[in-house]
Amino acid sequence: MGATIVVGGFFGDEGKGKIISYLAKKDNPSIVVRGGAGPNAGHTIKDGDKTFKVRMLPSGFLNKNSKVMIGPGVVVNPDVFLKEVDDFEAEDRSFLDNHCGIIEEHHLGADSQGRLKEKIGSTGSGTGPANAERAMRTLKMAKEIDSLQSYLIDVPLEINSALDRNENVLIEGTQGTHLSLWHGTYPFVTSKDVTASGICADVGVGPKRIDDIIVVFKSYLTRVGTGPMNGELSPQETSDKGWEEFGTVTGRLRRAAEFDFELASRAIMLSSANQISITKLDVRFPSCAGSQSFDQLDSESKSFIKNIEDKLGVPVTLIGTGAGVNDIIDLRT
Ligand code: IMP
Ligand code: MG
Repeated sequence: MGATIVVGGFFGDEGKGKIISYLAKKDNPSIVVRGGAGPNAGHTIKDGDKTFKVRMLPSGFLNKNSKVMIGPGVVVNPDVFLKEVDDFEAEDRSFLDNHCGIIEEHHLGADSQGRLKEKIGSTGSGTGPANAERAMRTLKMAKEIDSLQSYLIDVPLEINSALDRNENVLIEGTQGTHLSLWHGTYPFVTSKDVTASGICADVGVGPKRIDDIIVVFKSYLTRVGTGPMNGELSPQETSDKGWEEFGTVTGRLRRAAEFDFELASRAIMLSSANQISITKLDVRFPSCAGSQSFDQLDSESKSFIKNIEDKLGVPVTLIGTGAGVNDIIDLRT
């Protein structure tokens, strides 16, 4: 299996966290490593009756055999990181790179007001202002912070050595393709590139070492914050369809629309994705809730998936059928 990378194909919140936590359990990677912007990301993971919300640690932390790491391209809020390490009892297996940038109080302040908050609808997590300072070469790095000393590691070296030993490494993207600073709906985007190439650079692995690139799409589209979204539904239409969602980080109501093939096709191109994952199929088709085999699906849901494969020309290999980690149809060979 080698290196697998998972990226979002829409505007974030595609359900990557659930797919990644499943892969972390199923494929037993020795390392699960996060790229992406920073604690603006929010992943919700359900295991049995427990719900976890992560913003800093990789969503793969449920597998206690995996080391979880944060790549040097990610900006870290030490308070959020230390709290999650504590909450999820991941003290002895959580690591961050010496070169992770550090979010400080003044970044939070700058992100919670003015143009970023009002025009872009930022998450207020300090991620954008910290990345701006990184570009100015004034941002602090993790190795300068006392409380982080025991978690520091050379993440690129760890990953590449694990791959040399033929171990599995799961690389976790955050946000979604159309929030990419380079490829998204600028200026209504996040402060980093979040396509597969950007995520590779964040964690320090070259594109040639990646075996599988999985792009995750939800079975409908949502967007939180401002910026264009074709075919946007009214809040009433959204709730009539049962597509009402609230942000993990901000609690804001997400805007919703139909599955967008144009955005999906471009996301596949930008990340050279060779597999598609479709999440929340059960929200569209309640009869598939909890299904674990394709044969169990009704004809309407089957043709929804087939149509996606036909139009996008890439196989759908993982289908989410519920919030639980094991509510999934795994069609990988
Ligand atoms: P920022 O990344 O906090 O600067 O926010 C910029 C834009 O990206 C806003 O529209 C946010 O709502 C959106 N955004 C950032 N991170 C995420 C995410 O993880 N999921 C969904 N939207 C996000
Ligand atoms: Mg999210």
